[in-house]
Amino acid sequence: MNITNDIKYIGVNDHKVDLFEGQYDVPNGMAYNSYVIIDEKIAVMDSVDKNFGDEWLGNLKDALGGAKPDYLIVQHMEPDHSANITAFADAYPDAVIVSSAKSFDMMKNFFGTDFADRRMIVKEGDTLSLGKHNLSFVAAPMVHWPEVIFTYDSTDKVLFSADAFGKFGALDVDEEWACEARRYYIGIVGKYGAQVQSVLKKAANLDIETICPLHGPILTENLGYYIDLYNTWSSYGVESEGVNIAYTSVYGHTKEAAEMLAAKLTEKGCVKVAVNDLAREDMAECVEDAFRYGKIVLATTTYNNDVFPFMKEFINHLTERNFQNKTVGIIENGSWAPTAAKTIKSMLEGCKNLTFTDTTVSIKSALNDTNMAQLDALADEMLK
Ligand code: FEO
Repeated sequence: MNITNDIKYIGVNDHKVDLFEGQYDVPNGMAYNSYVIIDEKIAVMDSVDKNFGDEWLGNLKDALGGAKPDYLIVQHMEPDHSANITAFADAYPDAVIVSSAKSFDMMKNFFGTDFADRRMIVKEGDTLSLGKHNLSFVAAPMVHWPEVIFTYDSTDKVLFSADAFGKFGALDVDEEWACEARRYYIGIVGKYGAQVQSVLKKAANLDIETICPLHGPILTENLGYYIDLYNTWSSYGVESEGVNIAYTSVYGHTKEAAEMLAAKLTEKGCVKVAVNDLAREDMAECVEDAFRYGKIVLATTTYNNDVFPFMKEFINHLTERNFQNKTVGIIENGSWAPTAAKTIKSMLEGCKNLTFTDTTVSIKSALNDTNMAQLDALADEMLK
């Protein structure tokens, strides 16, 4: 696949991965993207996951048509991209490895070598000319690891963006970009909004026609759409109008309350109510929805003088990712001493700019008339 006249795609699709990064369900697999820029000097952009070394080196060989690469540019050291650096180095002993100083420290830890005799250390603003193509490097720390660099090719106006603008899903599966890009971003990079904002500001000064990420499709059209979404996600803004209700339920009473609230919200004109059962739905999808909407209701039972385990896990995912800027309502249930609301508030204590509703729905076992009135009031507050 040609990206431009001189840039070719040499990545691979993985349909065998069960859990990406050991935790994310990827029903449509994963793509590990890699590219080669063919010029007077030839540069390869990143390697691929360990299970695809032969396929990747084969793709590279086919793209080169007998030529030899001069550089391997390593933008990110996470093993889904770095696992075949040594295979490349063995196959092409004259090629120079180009990366940030931090990456070479990581190579020493991963591979026992930092390629001291054949490396080029680059930092923010450094350039590398391949002949016609002039590359410059942009430091992108914590997007998604500290060593990350982006690479900008000013000749073809291509930004190689490492994990940024990536998504779950292999490239031979056709699916909407935003859904799996959002789940990927919030799950994997969500904590590092400030760092993403800072790299977006740097990218705004570049004339970009194509974005080549390390996962997901190459982006060539309507780039503003993708950049705007990244801006919203990394600034913890509201992407979609509506209310997210995240619940756990043991015997169905809390579920009933969650569903009743959803019905009331819809009746009262709420444009979208996203209801998630935290025990049964993909946790990363639930976390994604929590960040997507500006309003959230957490409904759960008191359990071991704490909150129900799936709610606890969910809130931990939120706080780890710098959850902020939301209106929060709570429905608690407890058969003898409901304390979940108090626990939830203390779990969310460190989050910036959360507004709790005045109404908390407090159920003792099953819904009663007071609870029905509380649900009504909560719906009204959510729609204020
Ligand atoms: Fe795709 Fe952070 O690795």
